[in-house]
Amino acid sequence: MTLTLTRHADVTALLTDPRFDVPTAPPAPHGLAWLRGAVSRFSRGDRHTHRRGLATALLPPAAPLRAAAAARAADPRATPPDVPVTVLAAALGVRRPVHEQVARMTPGYFGRVQTGLSEMDAAVEDLVAAFGGERTERVAAAIGLLVQAHEATAGLVTRALAVLRQKAATTEPGSRHPHPVGPIAAILAETLRYDPPVPTMRRECLVDHDHPRLGRVAAGEVVVLDLAAANRDPDVFTDPDRFDAGRPNLDQVLTFGSGPRACPGRDHALALALGTVEGVLSRG
Ligand code: HEM
Repeated sequence: MTLTLTRHADVTALLTDPRFDVPTAPPAPHGLAWLRGAVSRFSRGDRHTHRRGLATALLPPAAPLRAAAAARAADPRATPPDVPVTVLAAALGVRRPVHEQVARMTPGYFGRVQTGLSEMDAAVEDLVAAFGGERTERVAAAIGLLVQAHEATAGLVTRALAVLRQKAATTEPGSRHPHPVGPIAAILAETLRYDPPVPTMRRECLVDHDHPRLGRVAAGEVVVLDLAAANRDPDVFTDPDRFDAGRPNLDQVLTFGSGPRACPGRDHALALALGTVEGVLSRG
């Protein structure tokens, strides 16, 4: 039976509970296994702190990503969900397109599939080459930024564009407002709550103990944190099943995680998604 937490308070508490941590990946010499074994996302303790530091040091300033994404997405030949990772890769100094390589290895990076590993290994090795050719922790951190960024930010863009399309279809023709559903940033923020592109996270129990909500939990057991459900917890969000871009407490949304492992790319994701949506809307 899968152990799952769905309440906002329980998910938030577990994310700072020292009796739980992320599932880890062992060190490996090359390919996808090397990447997973060398990034912060699948590391614990001091190693996590060190590798997270490498990743955050590489992050470019977030604000300029908005204009860069808008310019790219304004081109009708650009595929909107590919824009964020393409713009981020360029800001990290990559001089050629790499979004296909990132997309190819993403399912294996997150451990969702065990097949097609040789293609994913080749994609990782090509990304290593794009970052100079050496398999260092710093290069792993840079590739880690791209893979962490890609699917989630693309998912946010796709969802927000669907909301805008649906709302535009139900708005009076001739409305004076350029974006009839309100500021795009507010739409993005509520989309992250209402339909999160990363709906769950996992944590592994480190020591046998009695948990107030889960009961007896044994070391090694995995707990699923249902962010999508926690984001609709009626104790925190009034009328949670209603899409409301004017909510006052969107800072409590759990889609970027919480605690010491919370997403360090939040501002980047928002700048990239905002710019991409603005660019698409500017196409007319
Ligand atoms: C809508 C877009 C995004 C969402 C929803 C998202 C969500 C998350 C979440 C929930 C985590 C924590 C996972 C956990 O605790 O197990 C995380 C980690 C991370 N994210 Fe994001 N993310 C997004 C975009 C980005 C972007 C654009 C970047 C980079 C520019 C990024 C870089 C990272 C990194 C490096 C980690 C690992 C942090 C660590 O190991 O401590 N993310 N993200």
